[in-house]
Amino acid sequence: MPKKILVVAGDGIGPEVTAQAVRIANWFNEHQGCDFVIEEALIGGAAYDETGHPLPQETIDKAKASDAVLLGAVGGPKWESLDISVRPEKGLLGIRKELQLFANLRPAIVFDELADASTLKHEVVSGLDIMIVRELTGGIYFGQPRGVEELPDGSKKGFNTLVYTTEEIRRIGRVAFDLAKKRDGRVCSVDKANVLEATEFWREEMIALHQDEYSDLELSHMYVDNAAMQLVRNPKQFDVMVTTNMFGDILSDCAAMLTGSLGMLPSASLGHPGTPGLYEPVHGSAPDIAGKDIANPLATILSFSMMLRYSFDMQKQADTLEDAIRSVLAAGYRTRDIMQDGAQEVGCSQMGDMLIAALEGDVSAAA
Ligand code: IPM
Ligand code: MG
Repeated sequence: MPKKILVVAGDGIGPEVTAQAVRIANWFNEHQGCDFVIEEALIGGAAYDETGHPLPQETIDKAKASDAVLLGAVGGPKWESLDISVRPEKGLLGIRKELQLFANLRPAIVFDELADASTLKHEVVSGLDIMIVRELTGGIYFGQPRGVEELPDGSKKGFNTLVYTTEEIRRIGRVAFDLAKKRDGRVCSVDKANVLEATEFWREEMIALHQDEYSDLELSHMYVDNAAMQLVRNPKQFDVMVTTNMFGDILSDCAAMLTGSLGMLPSASLGHPGTPGLYEPVHGSAPDIAGKDIANPLATILSFSMMLRYSFDMQKQADTLEDAIRSVLAAGYRTRDIMQDGAQEVGCSQMGDMLIAALEGDVSAAA
């Protein structure tokens, strides 16, 4: 059965990094009997320039007709002065909402070879393997009312609404508990229950869900400010963290740096069973290095690996790919963001070359 992958490369380094993942998909077609069919569509600033909208209907239709979506990145200074309703970021938020991708999985795993690339001490991060589960289609990102209004005295007020329903909290909670079941069995729910009613409610619902359906697992709670601190103090205390849309946005960038670079963190955004998942690197469009062929494609390639696991249940191929990444790192090849003394610096497409050589069994042959 062919597997239709829609690639929405987007802006900045998006096209460069997704191109390397497409090479890998094609390698699996040629050498492992896979049948990935790659289609492309526009999103973000690139879509705005072409069509006047960051998420054209055609992209939505193609995404819904695909088996999985691979996304690069959106945004850049070129579009920053646009009205917020047509900014590139709206394309990303829009596709998440259209596909109802309410669960965002952001694993922070430290490859042994990169434990020294982190700004944190080796012993703090070596062997780290945590999973951040971020609610992705609710919370303050989507809550109504929102906007900027003029007040009677001529001054203005800006406002957003943080809102969560029982259903939204329970369905993301289930994703976190189900993941924990296959891991260390521990979920830490992150909130600001001491200040925000909506997240006090979040905590109550997590407790109820735990009692009703997952009492064999461990559930703990942490305020978000403490969680940020604990992530850099002792990240290995966590197994699965589950949190709201905005807290997850912030904590996952923080977790990314534990792994050495934002260039290493993949993500999967999943909805209801049977709907296409969306896979994207956590890093943004990095306009400062776009077009220079120096970006790190590994977060995107690791996102493709998550696609193999979560959308296609191709665990063997995902293992093969992750082993290839490990051997390229072990052979000393690094993109600039994870460069270390004694390593050999490679560009974005060269990193792709190295990976393909590693998949073929001999990374040294590519040097
Ligand atoms: C992310 C990004 C997005 C978000 C932006 C680009 C809209 O920061 O995926 O973490 O805030 O969700
Ligand atoms: Mg973010």
